Amino acid sequence: MLTAHPFPGLAWGELGDVVYEHDPEAEVLVVANETVDEALLDTLPNLKLVANYGVGYDRVDVDECARRRIAVVNTPGVLTDATADLAFALILAAVRGVVSGDRAVRAGKWKAGWSRGPLAGDVSGATLGIVGYGRIGSAVARRAEGFGMRVLSVRSTAADEELDELLRAADIVSIHVPLSPRTHRLIDARRLALLRDGTTLVNTARGEIVDSDALVRELVSGRISAGLDVFVGEPGVPQELLGLDNVVLTPHIGSATVSAREGMTRLVVDNILALERGEPLLTPVAP
Ligand code: DGY
Repeated sequence: MLTAHPFPGLAWGELGDVVYEHDPEAEVLVVANETVDEALLDTLPNLKLVANYGVGYDRVDVDECARRRIAVVNTPGVLTDATADLAFALILAAVRGVVSGDRAVRAGKWKAGWSRGPLAGDVSGATLGIVGYGRIGSAVARRAEGFGMRVLSVRSTAADEELDELLRAADIVSIHVPLSPRTHRLIDARRLALLRDGTTLVNTARGEIVDSDALVRELVSGRISAGLDVFVGEPGVPQELLGLDNVVLTPHIGSATVSAREGMTRLVVDNILALERGEPLLTPVAP
């Protein structure tokens, strides 16, 4: 019989340090964006499975797990639509000034009958550049078709020039690559500078994919706008962004819908049951 580590809280506000209060006899470790490194693995000598409650497993040292013959699984597929919906919500909110408009109304700053300005850009008919054309990126593309957008895309393995070209051409850029050594700061200061004035950058993938300092500089200058669900050092957010009207901020809620979280939970449990029964794991992660 396996001893499963109790699930960490499922709501984004409750994750905390639960994983560190573990049972040293545990054979299964369930993590939700917590770091699984050599130091943690050293304390779990009986571990057989790390189940990552999420599709992005960038904080799990998969190679070290493989060396120790510990399997790793994640939860792909079940959060695709939820994350694509959020990316689109951020596109609409950032381009059309939904959040800044809401703030203005609440602050009693709405004076004229219908707004004389500032005027927004368009989503319909705009050119959307999708960086990373996997499950989530292609789901965003399907949504964009309904808005009559022109869609450009590059895969996470795209050549440098191909990505540069997309960044120069797009009115809106949405990031959907997984975080890896290859994609760490993929959108660096040089690439941010390629964006045309008025471009909107949306990130629902991982904060580390964009050079955070350079992004803050671009946003503070007002040259571009952004919709950001992910940040370097979450739950920290660069303080400079808090007072800006050209950026919409959400607290890493890409998968935070009832059906996505149910699907993630089911996949984690089914993987644990498969291990217990000696059956093939459903969603193994290759080292
Ligand atoms: C994931 O699945 O990687 C998400 O970031 C969790 O919401």
